[in-house]
Amino acid sequence: MKVEPAGSVAGHIAVPGDKSISHRAVLIGALCEGETRVRGFGRSADTQSSVDAVRTLGIDVDDIADDELVVKGRGLTPFSDQTAVVDCGNAGTLIRLLAGVLAGQRGRFELTGDESLRARPMDRIAEPLRRMGARVTTAPLVVEGSDALEGIEYVLPVASAQVKSAVLLAGLNASSTTTILEPAPTRDHTELMLAAAGARVRRRPSSVSIEPASRLELGEVAVPGDFSSAAPFVVAATLLAGSELTIHDVGLNPRRTGLLDVLERMGARITIYNRRKSGGELLGDLEVRSAELTATDVAGEEVPRLVDELPLFALAAAVARGDSRLTGAAELRVKETDRIESVTNGLRALGIRIRARDDGFEIRGVPARPTGGRMSSLGDHRVAMLAAIAGLVSRDGVEIEDADAVAISFPGFYELLNSVSRR
Ligand code: S3P
Repeated sequence: MKVEPAGSVAGHIAVPGDKSISHRAVLIGALCEGETRVRGFGRSADTQSSVDAVRTLGIDVDDIADDELVVKGRGLTPFSDQTAVVDCGNAGTLIRLLAGVLAGQRGRFELTGDESLRARPMDRIAEPLRRMGARVTTAPLVVEGSDALEGIEYVLPVASAQVKSAVLLAGLNASSTTTILEPAPTRDHTELMLAAAGARVRRRPSSVSIEPASRLELGEVAVPGDFSSAAPFVVAATLLAGSELTIHDVGLNPRRTGLLDVLERMGARITIYNRRKSGGELLGDLEVRSAELTATDVAGEEVPRLVDELPLFALAAAVARGDSRLTGAAELRVKETDRIESVTNGLRALGIRIRARDDGFEIRGVPARPTGGRMSSLGDHRVAMLAAIAGLVSRDGVEIEDADAVAISFPGFYELLNSVSRR
């Protein structure tokens, strides 16, 4: 697949529903009483893995439309007394959150997935779930759930919303309060959705507690557009002179929108309209106009707020004036690919001056179009989207190997990109 250079991007678009929230709607919906209608469901290979997983475990899910489904919940322990193998595909969020759900249900569950998923660290969930009373082995990940889990107080060793969520979900079926302390704020979609479903969730600035639940009910979830799917378009519109692009109904949860803060610090021109709230989640419309950028550093507590957008930050920094640096992002090494390596090697092949560090990268910005060339996604959806935006802003275009990887989170990505690109 070749992405040719564009002059600008323009128009009005919307992106599919948020992947993190869609996974949670399916998993938490299964634990609810009765039906949960999910509107704006972000259908993709990853979220389909969640639908297939709960179906494997006996939950009915009705597909109403591409972006709408109904999950027929069966209360807090719908999976107990089963022995099952569940294929989680490429979805890290699914495998980790589901492990948390299953920890509190009697049975034996083997959770598996593709080669990339099987190589990802699972000790981070096994450890707290064991402390709560489940038997968990990793490689392969096997959860032997228990109906006698105990609440724990757990200090997260890494800032991970997936680990936090796994422990919170296990806490629903524990006999006492579960508290998680976070080293830095991570996405809080699980807390917000559980609170909306009636769970007793208590939030403090750097911790969250959940009480054992007796009944959850969601009724309906309206999923906002995925900020992480909007992000490639935000960067394209910022970098291509003469662009003016509006992205409607995008999720703007502040724990997800670190990229907006970073780009604004670099000089981007982004305006938010129609700010509103739905199901505890903020959303709005983003209007993005092109701008000349200057370098910046990203570090520390800011990292989890743009963890999935850091590949795009590298591209923005590459065409900014000055040198930029990312530190404190060693977590990138354990994503769908080692994103420090896949991003630095990929962008370097396009003529960009970027160097890997143990915990991030350093970029020498040049305010001009990078040359372009060939870049492989290595099967990583976020790397494929990075390559595509690099192609648009390049001089010669970018030939993307394994371009189909975008379907993991955003099957219609290239069509939408085409529809806004102006020569
Ligand atoms: C996610 C949390 C993050 C993120 C991933 C989705 C979630 O992972 O990178 O794409 O939905 O909770 P970590 O929890 O590993 O940081």
